[in-house]
Amino acid sequence: MYYNMDINNYEPYREMYRVNSLNDLLIKAMKAERHDRVKYERMMESTKNEAVKQQIKFAYDDEIKHYKMFNQMYFQLTGKKIDIPIPTNIEKYNSLMEAVKSSIEGESEAVDLYREIYALMSNKQMRDKDFEIITDEQEHFGRFIYLYSMLK
Ligand SMILES: [Fe+2]
Ligand SMILES: [Fe+2]
Repeated sequence: MYYNMDINNYEPYREMYRVNSLNDLLIKAMKAERHDRVKYERMMESTKNEAVKQQIKFAYDDEIKHYKMFNQMYFQLTGKKIDIPIPTNIEKYNSLMEAVKSSIEGESEAVDLYREIYALMSNKQMRDKDFEIITDEQEHFGRFIYLYSMLK
């Protein structure tokens, strides 16, 4: 009996899987960006130290830019407009130090997620944008490490 084992027959399924995974991860990324911006806002409110505030503000300002960039990519890919609501009940921290520690973790996770997104992207312009976001998150990671040593 003859079986058609032509590997190209799987190509459309693989492509569908790639596109679906990418769209899911973009939604995950938008949620993470929304979450982090609220978290950093609370962190800034919790201190009177201007130098500390300023360090957090770099990330706070970037996260809204990232949200918009991912949102635009999602629209470009799906033709659908989506808006992730700003979270109101996010986790609480007993101290600023605790929040800083979790932010170091969070920024590192963001880099991992956006690398995954990068691997699923086929469009060069989109990859460049995602790469720009990755480097921003790496910068945030460094700033939170710096904050950690400042507060210690
Ligand atoms: Fe971000
Ligand atoms: Fe960030």
